[in-house]
Parts: sequence; C-alpha cells; structure tokens
Amino acid sequence: MKPIILITRKLPDAAIKDLKNQYHIDMWEEEDVPIPREILLEKSKNVDALLTMITEKIDEELIANAKQLKVIANCAVGYDNVDVETATKYGVAVCNTPDVLTDTTADLTFALLMVTARRMIEAEKYIQNGQWKSWSPFLLAGKDIHHKTLGIVGMGKIGSKVAKRAKGFDMNILYHNRTRKIEVEEEIGAKYCSFEELLRTADFVVCLAPLTPETEGMFQKEQFNMMKKDAIFINVGRGPIVNEQDLYEAVKNGVIGGAGLDVFEKEPIDETHPLLTLPNVVALPHIGSSSVETRMRMIQLSCSNIDQILKEKIPHTLVNK
Ligand code: DGY
Repeated sequence: MKPIILITRKLPDAAIKDLKNQYHIDMWEEEDVPIPREILLEKSKNVDALLTMITEKIDEELIANAKQLKVIANCAVGYDNVDVETATKYGVAVCNTPDVLTDTTADLTFALLMVTARRMIEAEKYIQNGQWKSWSPFLLAGKDIHHKTLGIVGMGKIGSKVAKRAKGFDMNILYHNRTRKIEVEEEIGAKYCSFEELLRTADFVVCLAPLTPETEGMFQKEQFNMMKKDAIFINVGRGPIVNEQDLYEAVKNGVIGGAGLDVFEKEPIDETHPLLTLPNVVALPHIGSSSVETRMRMIQLSCSNIDQILKEKIPHTLVNK
C-alpha cells in the first residue's frame, strides 16, 4: 500500500505532482478555509506524512494519535504552530521552509516600512474619497527613510536581507539578536546593541523575531515608552511578540509615530479591532512571503522534504535538534 500524505490546504497540481505520482494524496479541498480541527485529528490517525500550514495546531493530542506519522512538513519558515519537542519524542521529523522565502519576505518588510513612513495607504484613500482639492505644502507629509536609523530585532536571514535593502537607502543599521552576527556587521555595517539602546535610538523598529517563550510579549507599554515619539514600529515576525492593546494605546496617544503590521495576536484580526481604526497603522493579512514564485517554492520544498523522509533519506530543512 502506498504511504498516505495529508495536505491541509488545496494546493496547485503543478506543485505537488511529484508526490502525486508516488503516494496516496489526501488533500483538503479548500484554498481559503483551514481544515477543521476534528477532521484533521481524524485523518491524521492514518497518515504517514502531513503537509501543514501555519493555521494548523500540531500538538500532542494530534501527534500521539497519529501512529503512522513520520513527518510534519510545515509550509512556512516559522513553526511555532508545531510542538517540535513532542514530535521529536514520538520520532516524527519536523521540516520548515527557510531560505526560499528570505528575499520575498525582506521585500515585503521594507515595502511595509516605506508605505507606513510615507503614508501611502492614507494617500490612496484620500484620492478615492474625493478629498484631493489642491497640491499643498504639507499634504500627507510623512517621514524620511533615507539616512535614518533602522533597528532590527531578530537578525536572522530575513533580517540581514532587510539590512541590505536599508543600506541602499543610506540608513544607519542597528540590530539586536540572541547572538552577534559578525558577517552582517562586516558586510553591511550593521551595529549590534542592547534591546533598550535599539528602542531608544531607532527611527524604525522592525521586529523579525520568531515566536518563542523568550520573545512572547517582548514589545509592551514599557518598550513603546522607550521609543522615539515619531518612531515607526514594523512587525513581520509573529503577532504574540507584541501586546496589541499596548501598541494601540502607544500609537493612539502619540507615544510612537505609527505601525506597519503583517502579523497579529489573533489571525485573522477582527475587522472591528481598534488598531484598524488608526490612520497611521498599516495592516496586512500575513502576506510576508506571498509571491507566486515563493509560495510555489515553499510548497515544493515541503513536498521534497516529505519525499526524502518517506524514502528514509535526510530532509533538506529539518527542525528537530
Ligand atoms: C512563515 O513562513 O513563517 C510565514 O510567516 C508564513 O509564510
């Protein structure tokens, strides 16, 4: 009998055809709606591999009952939705999709910074609402990006590509990370500093950290209070790293200048969320790595990782330690 692979979202045939030729594929047939938890739990009992999205919680309840499961290929670089420790305990490999999305996510991060700083969404709404009556000296005047100080929190692969883009804008680059990144310091001239120094000096604070017990709630009232009054906060890491109520109050009360957010505490964010009422908050629906080319590469890498494991070969991007 062919090994069974459960794919938790409808994916294009072209991306999964190699797997289709060799294995039995059970694919959830919705593109925009996640597989319901009960169905995921039920189906997982008999599968050899799971190709999951960040919307699925892969916890002990699921892993312990998935007796045949050999691999969880999470179609994202982040894997905070997967209990890796438990998977390891049960001998299940966990794979993610680093590298293939690095530049695409760095592009989005820098674009979000620019759009927020230069008030482009407000400007578009201004035209659409018929408010543009005349050129005027300070019409929708934003904040300069070039020659300003960028503070990157979480200097991984994406962070270093954001720094590279910032260098092209003659920015002064600071970073804070668990470990020093000498290559980024040497190649790009980024300077390592403490979290507090970064918060106090940066004009743009960009969070690209993964969600871990150490980073959860890292940005709260105290941290926003340390930032410059016109600082712009960008989050493309994970929502729960930020206390959203504190962020809302900081932006609303002018403690900081604005925010650009691609990730939220709860996704999808409720359309009535107070953050969405602020003109100087730009909110995107978690599209950091969402270009057609990159999403295809992420799916293909996930498929290839599954294939490697099912053939008892070493996967390309294993997460388990
Ligand atoms: C990731 O890869 O972790 C993104 O957040 C989802 O594409």
